[in-house]
Amino acid sequence: MAADLSPDALRNREIWTQENAEYTGPKALEAWRQEEIGWGVFQVPESQLGALPDVAGKDVVELGCGTAYFSAWLAKRGARPVGVDLTPAQLATARRCQQELGIEFPLVEASAEDVPLPDASFDLALSEYGASIWCDPERWIAEAARLLRPGGELVFLVNSTLAILCSPDEGSVVERLQRPQFGMYRFEWPGEDDGVNFYISHGEWIRILRQNGFEIVALHELQAPPDAADHPRYELVSAEWAKKWPSEELWRARKRA
Ligand SMILES: C[S@@+](CC[C@H](N)C(=O)[O-])C[C@H]1O[C@@H](n2cnc3c(N)ncnc32)[C@H](O)[C@@H]1O
Repeated sequence: MAADLSPDALRNREIWTQENAEYTGPKALEAWRQEEIGWGVFQVPESQLGALPDVAGKDVVELGCGTAYFSAWLAKRGARPVGVDLTPAQLATARRCQQELGIEFPLVEASAEDVPLPDASFDLALSEYGASIWCDPERWIAEAARLLRPGGELVFLVNSTLAILCSPDEGSVVERLQRPQFGMYRFEWPGEDDGVNFYISHGEWIRILRQNGFEIVALHELQAPPDAADHPRYELVSAEWAKKWPSEELWRARKRA
């Protein structure tokens, strides 16, 4: 499969192999065991947001599932998830967690830009910082549309456009615009190799979603809870900033029937 991957995907797979060894691998079981669904760096509870449709009995594909804890949370609520991820080490951790906790579902090693699963076979496509920031939006949104049944929903979490606009080349976001919005798309951050990310404006999300047959259902702008503290590892946004401005955005869209 590696021969078919884009240079960006190959580079991102290296990053995630290392991240798995250092952080996500050791942390995975704890995430799988979490009872409440929480969104993003500051873990805004799903019970408060209501961003997901009812998942019981639904076929769900998680695009860029990583260690697949989100799929596990949905499986515990009666969904039938399939996890898709590029990085073998992440999927190996997911398999270890499956065996440990007895929650089994299929895991597919593939890029979310080119998914080897049939058309119209899912009710919900989900991405929590997976395809949503690591894949070319023109490609992965088209794949999500292809994989969904008519009326199916797409829910995905990204760093907010505002947070990216306020991000200096290195360090955490500041209270001042740092870069132009027009032309934003593919990002390579200077300094340590953080791989290749994709961030676009709200207008561009709406254009791409609608071109692929989606209607927008909601855009949840996440606010850090009053007692939130800085995350020990994900330092892009401080808790104080995220209490004042939306640092993360959760999109929900429905494929036209
Ligand atoms: C922040 S994790 C998101 C997954 C999960 N929510 C988590 O936090 O572990 C990002 C994941 O995206 C995956 N990824 C990066 N590029 C990808 C691509 N082109 N196709 C599928 N997965 C990709 C990485 O391997 C990594 O596991």
